[in-house]
Amino acid sequence: MKILTVVGARPQFIKASMLSKAIKAQSKIEEIMVHTGQHYDHNMSTIFFDQLKLTKPDYYLGIGSGSHGEQTAKMLFELEKIMLSVQPDIVIVYGDTNSTLAGSIAASKIHIPIAHVEAGLRSFNKKMPEEINRIITDHLSHLLFCPSKTAIHNLKQEGIDKEVYLTGDIMYDAVIHFKDPAIQQSTILNDLSLTAGNYFIATVHRAENSDEPERLKQILTAFQRLDKTIILPLHPRTKNKIQHFKLDHFITSSHIKTIDPVNYFDMLALVSQAKAILTDSGGLQKEAYMLRIPCITLREETEWIETVQTGWNHLAGYKTNQILDKVNHLKLPQYSPSIFGDGRTAHVIHNILLHSF
Ligand code: UD1
Repeated sequence: MKILTVVGARPQFIKASMLSKAIKAQSKIEEIMVHTGQHYDHNMSTIFFDQLKLTKPDYYLGIGSGSHGEQTAKMLFELEKIMLSVQPDIVIVYGDTNSTLAGSIAASKIHIPIAHVEAGLRSFNKKMPEEINRIITDHLSHLLFCPSKTAIHNLKQEGIDKEVYLTGDIMYDAVIHFKDPAIQQSTILNDLSLTAGNYFIATVHRAENSDEPERLKQILTAFQRLDKTIILPLHPRTKNKIQHFKLDHFITSSHIKTIDPVNYFDMLALVSQAKAILTDSGGLQKEAYMLRIPCITLREETEWIETVQTGWNHLAGYKTNQILDKVNHLKLPQYSPSIFGDGRTAHVIHNILLHSF
């Protein structure tokens, strides 16, 4: 059996690394990996392959950045050629990026079945490019691997109930597998002179926040007013926007430490020892929960509703006062059920793939 995996953005390298390991361990499936090149900076791409011991991609498309239409169209054009030549039994796509969308459209038009890892997530906000990518991908997929019960419910509401599996979240596999080595090997807390439990870590990269000067300004103002060190690994998109909107002076306070995007081990080390996380990333909201660190989400809604229901995640939106209010009222909930499975998601997905073809 031959599968073709499409990855392109940072979180997809983490997710794919776990399934690839499970596939290699049994060697019953041949995996061919395509990296679209959506993320191409060393610290957004290569370093993840090295650290996660992910085999070099068989094809690197080098698509790079562009408008949604341009980026997706270029991927589609290249992916179709590769799929026609490789003739895989199934194409695997992860999450909700433009690489996910291109992989699923290319495969569906030439009648190759699709497996979607992280199916069924919804924010119910179609202004998010990721929401459009998810809806289309789910409706084109033949195997739908859902991380949570909410995801299964969402698919049912849209009339999708065949070949839908509750597998748990593959990012949880990665957290369990890499947490201890990450904390042992990473020197980032020392390098940044941080004390465990005494700093915040923040990330902002969603188009809805980074492309809107007023939203970005309000978020950065909240960071400025925090009373503890705040580590801000800057996504290249946000770095460009801060310069473009002339907001640099909001991040010059001595308690705000802006750093380049960090590798996976450093991020796990930073998150697992932080006082709290402030983020608009989907992945970080989950990782915070998995590591039992409170999270304040800089959005009005979330796909990971269970993290909110259990009291670990708080939706603050972008307004300065609301963000500060959430920070000031942080409490550590007592209860943290295993909403993302048992860390054996890759194994479960591997078995379903084996028995599906
Ligand atoms: C993408 C995903 C988002 C995911 C994120 C993970 C889409 C629509 N969005 O967002 O869901 O959470 O990846 O990190 O697919 N850039 C660089 N170097 C890079 C990559 C990007 O400089 O290696 C800059 C470019 O200016 C680019 C901008 O970042 O235009 C945005 O990159 P893009 O890949 O389009 O989306 P992300 O914001 O990274």
